[in-house]
Amino acid sequence: MEGLFFKSWRKRLWAQVEGHHILEVGVGTGKNFDYYPQDARITAIDFSGQMLKQAAQKRERKNVSVELELMDIQSLCFADNSFDTVICSFVFCSVPSAIKGLKELYRVCKPGGQVLLLEHVLSSNRLIAALMNLLNPIVVRLVGANINRNTVKNVKACAFTSVRVDDAGSDIIKLIEARK
Ligand SMILES: C[S@@+](CC[C@H](N)C(=O)[O-])C[C@H]1O[C@@H](n2cnc3c(N)ncnc32)[C@H](O)[C@@H]1O
Repeated sequence: MEGLFFKSWRKRLWAQVEGHHILEVGVGTGKNFDYYPQDARITAIDFSGQMLKQAAQKRERKNVSVELELMDIQSLCFADNSFDTVICSFVFCSVPSAIKGLKELYRVCKPGGQVLLLEHVLSSNRLIAALMNLLNPIVVRLVGANINRNTVKNVKACAFTSVRVDDAGSDIIKLIEARK
């Protein structure tokens, strides 16, 4: 899946990064390291110590310049207006309170800066959405991720000045660019 499908989405996501000071939230094992822009100052956080341990090993292996920190997206330990770009991929399916998390991303983003999210969301097809809603509790139990989040709607409910969605023809994968 990663090689066939997600790599091109990741490239598309990271091609949109602006500015020098970048925050990646929900870094996981560091699957985005290959796409980090050169010469940027990057901090990456996750609330899983195990994920950060793997990310730290990958950082050494690939000689990536990134500061890794244990932190919850829902209560970030950064000052307001700190980052030019706040970015994540496939994270808001598992953040317990998506709105609380998105408000934190907004808070730490500089005015005029951007929050970029690559996420899988609930289908707009009613039949498929019904199936996703039905299966969601099982998927949550198995892998801890929700397959029925309406992340575009959640981002639009925050105070961003503009929200642009690139779906490249996909009903379920969305690249969301929200400007503060
Ligand atoms: C599906 S993984 C995606 C990892 C990586 N972004 C990628 O694209 O491969 C979701 C990651 O988000 C992290 N995560 C979920 N909720 C979080 C929260 N509230 N605060 C920090 N990290 C969180 C998880 O620990 C996990 O590493």
